[in-house]
Amino acid sequence: MVRVCFVCLGNICRSPTAEGVFRHLLRRRGLAGAIEVDSAGTSAYHVGEPPDARATAAAARRGIRLSGRARQFKPEDFARFDYVVAMDRANLRRLREMARRAGALDKVFLFRDLDPDSPEGADVPDPYYGGPDGFEEVLDIVEAGAEGLLAHILRQHPEIAGEAAR
Ligand code: 4NP
Repeated sequence: MVRVCFVCLGNICRSPTAEGVFRHLLRRRGLAGAIEVDSAGTSAYHVGEPPDARATAAAARRGIRLSGRARQFKPEDFARFDYVVAMDRANLRRLREMARRAGALDKVFLFRDLDPDSPEGADVPDPYYGGPDGFEEVLDIVEAGAEGLLAHILRQHPEIAGEAAR
């Protein structure tokens, strides 16, 4: 089992969207049993809250369900996950700081860096204070990036690729 955790600031917009989109993709590829998905935030601002209603509505229009309650990413999470995926560079910096102390720097990635069609070092922009277009943009970026992330994981874990084919 490979474990992936998406991490943004609040864990109510971008990372639950990435979690929902990636889980949806895994189900379509027959990989839901091989890769476990979760999400968290670097802040505690919204701990216990469900995903933002605007994110949930935008995802639902694409047939994707968002789930879970916001939680804060903790240093102990590095032991649980193989891929800790930051949605933007600000959160990447926070995670790398934490990971350095935990000896887990090799588990931390920037989401869009795993998408070969994305520019190097690009963020998934924070939609929280913007209008509804921001949530559509997040979904577009996340749907493209999810394919890149899955391809990356399958290259590193060929045993899982075999599972999809069975
Ligand atoms: P997220 O969006 O990090 O994608 O969940 C945000 C949610 C809340 C805040 C900022 C961004 N906030 O400042 O409360």
